[in-house]
Amino acid sequence: MNDDKGRPDLRINGERLVSSIKEMGSIGFDPETGGRTRLALSDADKKGRDLLCRWMHEEGLDVKIDQIGNIFGVREGTDPSELPVMVGSHIDTVRDAGMFDGVYGVFGGLEVIRTLNENKVRTRKPLALAAFTNEEGARFQPDMMGSLFYTGTVGLEELLSSKDENGLTAADELDRIGYRGSGTVRAGRYIELHIEQGPRLYAEGLPIGVVRGIQGLAWWAGEYCGESNHAGSTPMDMRKDALLGVAELAAEAEKLALRLGNGSVATMGKISPKPDIINIIPGKCSFTLDFRQFEKSLFEEGKGEIERLITACAEKRGLKYNFRKVAEAPAVVFDSGMVELAERVSARLGLASKRMVSGASHDAQFLSPFCPTVMIFVPSKDGRSHCPEEWTEAEDLENGCNVLLHSVLELV
Ligand code: GLV
Ligand code: MN
Ligand code: MN
Repeated sequence: MNDDKGRPDLRINGERLVSSIKEMGSIGFDPETGGRTRLALSDADKKGRDLLCRWMHEEGLDVKIDQIGNIFGVREGTDPSELPVMVGSHIDTVRDAGMFDGVYGVFGGLEVIRTLNENKVRTRKPLALAAFTNEEGARFQPDMMGSLFYTGTVGLEELLSSKDENGLTAADELDRIGYRGSGTVRAGRYIELHIEQGPRLYAEGLPIGVVRGIQGLAWWAGEYCGESNHAGSTPMDMRKDALLGVAELAAEAEKLALRLGNGSVATMGKISPKPDIINIIPGKCSFTLDFRQFEKSLFEEGKGEIERLITACAEKRGLKYNFRKVAEAPAVVFDSGMVELAERVSARLGLASKRMVSGASHDAQFLSPFCPTVMIFVPSKDGRSHCPEEWTEAEDLENGCNVLLHSVLELV
């Protein structure tokens, strides 16, 4: 069946999409928390990769792994001189994650390919499905390792030498799970389908978000050093409590984000006091900070202020300190033609859409300067994500995947 312009008027198989997402969601699942954990380059990540590669092979894709472990599956076109249209996302997770973050984009892309295959649709350009390595940055920093390497933004050696908290390098872990390859696939265009991970579409009852850009992100890791001492016998005015310095820094970072406003967000996601004992004043405390903002001058101001606060909160209590920036991604604005394409396709499918800026970071942030890029969002129930409660209704998953399918069909 063709639509009014002679394009195949196909629809993806929503049940097959949901069942594939659930199968991946069972890998690394923890019944106690209700979440799943597939940290990059872990055994669970390997199991997820193996499943994806098996399904790519079953669809007849030419599977290639590159030097940082990015997985590409290519469905050939009739004109080999054309660069592929690439779709995809990531399958690694944070700790105790939901099932959709990243996986929806990868299996949404796979579902598009399954739909084209079962309807025997030939395309002129190749279609490539990508799963980028370590998007989350939960185990190895920086995040977005796969797309940083793929786009030549950061060199391979620097990325592979990143260590996790047990001192294991990304290089060794990549070798251990058997995903260090030598192939690659160049993208001509990139579309990433993703859950919103924020509250806006759900609150407004809109099925589709067309993402026009992604806000800038900067991450730091640091440590304050004071003096461990007895919690009972050390008077309050004789303490050098590293945890209190870090606690004050967390509160100051919140004040900074509120003062800068315009969507600025600051988060201290991780603190680790030492020795971490009930009756010992913490002599050391490590922490991380995450700051994000879309507007360039406010992003620059916020980054400078965060570094000033790290220094000031330590000095105020006579603490020694060290810190370093462990990730940075500038804000990007997506290609207007790609944004208009996704909007046009949504309207044609009878789906209301809204242009929006992504609060979360994505591989699309690094693909965007490299080739025309856009992202398609679907609602996240109550705006929850990076937690076991992350949820998107089957109908929304299906709608977003149909927008992906028809956007791809216009490009290939
Ligand atoms: C990636 O999930 C991010 O931290 O935005
Ligand atoms: Mn993601
Ligand atoms: Mn994520």
